[in-house]
Amino acid sequence: MEHENINSWIRDGVYYHPHLFGGLMLTAALLGLSTSYFGGIKVPSLPYSLYNAGLFHNKKREKKRTRVYMDGCFDLMHYGHANALRQAKALGDELIVGVVSDEEIIANKGPPVLSMEERLALVSGLKWVDEVIPNAPYAITEQFMRSLFNEHKIDYIIHGDDPCLLPDGTDAYALAKKVGRYKQIKRTEGVSSTDILGRILSSLQNTEVIEQSDESSPNQKQCVGSHISQFLPTSRRIVQFSNGQGPGPDARVIYIDGAFDLFHAGHVEILKNARQLGDFLLVGIYHDHTVSEHRGTGHPIMHLHERSLSVLACRYVDEVIIGAPWEITKDMITTFNISLVVRGTIAEGNNASQMVGSDPYAVPKSMGIFRLLESPKDITTSSIAQRIVANHDAYTKRNAKKNESEKRYYAEKKYVVGD
Ligand SMILES: *[C@@H]1O[C@H](CO)[C@@H](O)[C@H](O)[C@H]1NC(C)=O
Ligand SMILES: *[C@@H]1O[C@H](CO)[C@@H](O)[C@H](O)[C@H]1NC(C)=O
Ligand SMILES: *[C@@H]1O[C@H](CO)[C@@H](O)[C@H](O)[C@H]1NC(C)=O
Repeated sequence: MEHENINSWIRDGVYYHPHLFGGLMLTAALLGLSTSYFGGIKVPSLPYSLYNAGLFHNKKREKKRTRVYMDGCFDLMHYGHANALRQAKALGDELIVGVVSDEEIIANKGPPVLSMEERLALVSGLKWVDEVIPNAPYAITEQFMRSLFNEHKIDYIIHGDDPCLLPDGTDAYALAKKVGRYKQIKRTEGVSSTDILGRILSSLQNTEVIEQSDESSPNQKQCVGSHISQFLPTSRRIVQFSNGQGPGPDARVIYIDGAFDLFHAGHVEILKNARQLGDFLLVGIYHDHTVSEHRGTGHPIMHLHERSLSVLACRYVDEVIIGAPWEITKDMITTFNISLVVRGTIAEGNNASQMVGSDPYAVPKSMGIFRLLESPKDITTSSIAQRIVANHDAYTKRNAKKNESEKRYYAEKKYVVGD
């Protein structure tokens, strides 16, 4: 069942979680997830009562761990979300993330592109997330806020610097602010789900234009992928997302490569499976031009640096190659001491008929260090784009509406301290 899938994802998160306390708390989230998945948002009190009973009472580390909460829809999750959660985590010791329910998104913004399960899988796969609360409300209600404070033992609620108003025009976080339990982070510039949806819609339009004309003129080619991104990658952002550690001595290095465009739940799962085959997961991210060559113009939808950050934010990834070659060479294998090269069965854009040229995996295959990994979910970047096509009108409308508020945001934007 789908739900069990998600539970096991999170369980594996526990497995890799180096900190005992974090693991314990995550177990609470797990139980919370399995008991509350269909309904409320209750977290069973067992781990807390163990804590309170003094099992872990140790005078030397009496200091209470600060629990911070942040929520969102996380539809078409991107590195902007990941960066917000990274900043939120830095304001406490444990980060609890509320994921807004499908119903609430439909009621407030129109249909989400990704289902609750896919969004949960994506959020749980982020390295900064300790617990998830499924089916959070869209606008934070007083009742929900109280349950965060009392049942989930949340110390602070975190939100970005864009104002968040309730339908009646009041500040959604007024209560948390009044009791001094609200903290703000800086919004990540240059990306939003609205922006990505816009890019997908325009890349689809451009593809249609090209398919309709027998010979695409240079003019038409020019508009392909010409969306403006305001994202300016900095070296510091990459450092913030990195683990900053190479493989330990005797580590078994696993290599997987791909475009990782529109990072989705299928990516998280294949990376998790790849990571389990060794001690260190190195991910090669293809150059933009490599992706366009193999998937067509208009691809990738996300640029190399954006795709790299999304992959780096995943808890199963140790390091990325920003701009990996299509073909794996003997030299690469030696340089990184790669023990095993893996590839998912539903990697797209490089199926047998398109690989008439040379096999990019010929070298690892000849060395006997290549393995195909059964892709656990059949989500692909193009299947996500197709959902948007199927719901084209609804998304265009949703985007036009969001577009206005985005425009206003940029027009009124001021410098905000933070990173
Ligand atoms: C290279 O990887 C192998 C595992 O496949 C490991 O045993 C070996 O120690 C590694 N080499 C170095 C120098 O770390
Ligand atoms: C492989 O690519 C060809 C040509 O691009 C396409 O017609 C075919 O459906 C693809 N096969 C799979 C299994 O995706
Ligand atoms: C959104 O705004 C951008 C620029 O402000 C514009 O190019 C685009 O066509 C708009 N999209 C919609 C759906 O209105």
